[in-house]
Amino acid sequence: MAGLLIILGIESSCDETAAAVVEDGHRVMASLVASQTEIHMPFGGVVPEVAAREHLRVIDPLVQQALNEAGVKFADLDAVAITQGPGLIGALLVGVAYAKGLALALGKPLIPVDHVHAHVHGALLGVEVAARDLFPTLALVVSGGHTNLYRMGSPTEFALIASSIDDACGECFDKVAKLLGLGYPGGAEIERHAKGGNVKAVPMPRMVSERARLEFSYSGLKTFVANVVAAEQAPISAARRSDICASFQEEALGQLVRKLTEAVRRYPEARSILVAGGVAANQRLQELMRSSIALPAFFPALRYCGDNAAMIAAYGYHLARAAGDGNSWLANADWDAYSRYDFGEGKELSPGSG
Ligand code: KG4
Ligand code: ZN
Repeated sequence: MAGLLIILGIESSCDETAAAVVEDGHRVMASLVASQTEIHMPFGGVVPEVAAREHLRVIDPLVQQALNEAGVKFADLDAVAITQGPGLIGALLVGVAYAKGLALALGKPLIPVDHVHAHVHGALLGVEVAARDLFPTLALVVSGGHTNLYRMGSPTEFALIASSIDDACGECFDKVAKLLGLGYPGGAEIERHAKGGNVKAVPMPRMVSERARLEFSYSGLKTFVANVVAAEQAPISAARRSDICASFQEEALGQLVRKLTEAVRRYPEARSILVAGGVAANQRLQELMRSSIALPAFFPALRYCGDNAAMIAAYGYHLARAAGDGNSWLANADWDAYSRYDFGEGKELSPGSG
């Protein structure tokens, strides 16, 4: 897409409404996130219908505010990128319907984006490194819903090489935090309590320990911690809780590092590693990755680890670039395809592909 520069990204797949304006795929001009965490808190989890209605309430003012902060007008936008899936259907529909209407009214291309793939681009926001120094790369998306390892030949080529056979890594952090009576979201709480704890205090089992296997597994680790907690004789002291957190965290993150180390061995052509998603915020993970793997490692800035729209706009930019002429997105647009829920792992829509 010649001359494509400024993309509006919109995200509404779960409990965050987000809007961002990104220039050239990595320069963030504005990035706003309206979190619904407090709204869902009384229910102990995200209520899909409540999420969808809240997206509907805030999406338009949020987009207007993002444009204001970026200092651009609708006419300055080159395209609109929207999270198409995976996510809560009602929540996704609000964003998709809004983005469709906006793109149609403006006569600008609408670019449907896979949310999980987009996370990877969170690691490259603000990064000024030539593509040839990054790709091929090994990209790990490690969040509350996914533990996916990809080999990427370019910013838009994703080949899934491994994922979790049971729970996601972040999900395991959340469940272990709950077992220990810590708050939500659990990952950050575990990291905080792990500081000062002894990583060797509670020997943890090593899941899928065979080097030949790249898949991840976390449900056994969660069950192990549940058994440790149940076997405690007295109420858990702060020091003991720190030890359990530290030991658990070291193994949960250690698994990621071991698998990535093996992937680097198997894919020697990789020039970098990218780590993204909520768990990428973990400082110990960053430390372990950097000390174990010699390749340049990129992590998102803290505000781009969790769900945001800057990553949606960034990935939208690369999809549009890869697809060529921007106008073909609109001319060949299969508007119904943009409303389809989840287009499956490793498959991207291209203009007119439906
Ligand atoms: O990407 P994200 O914001 O949401 C999705 O799951 O899509 O990831 C949230 C996950 C939660 O499971 C949370 O516990 C985990 O990321 N997380 C962390 C940390 N901060 C967030 N896990 C470990 N250490 C952290 N510092
Ligand atoms: Zn996410």
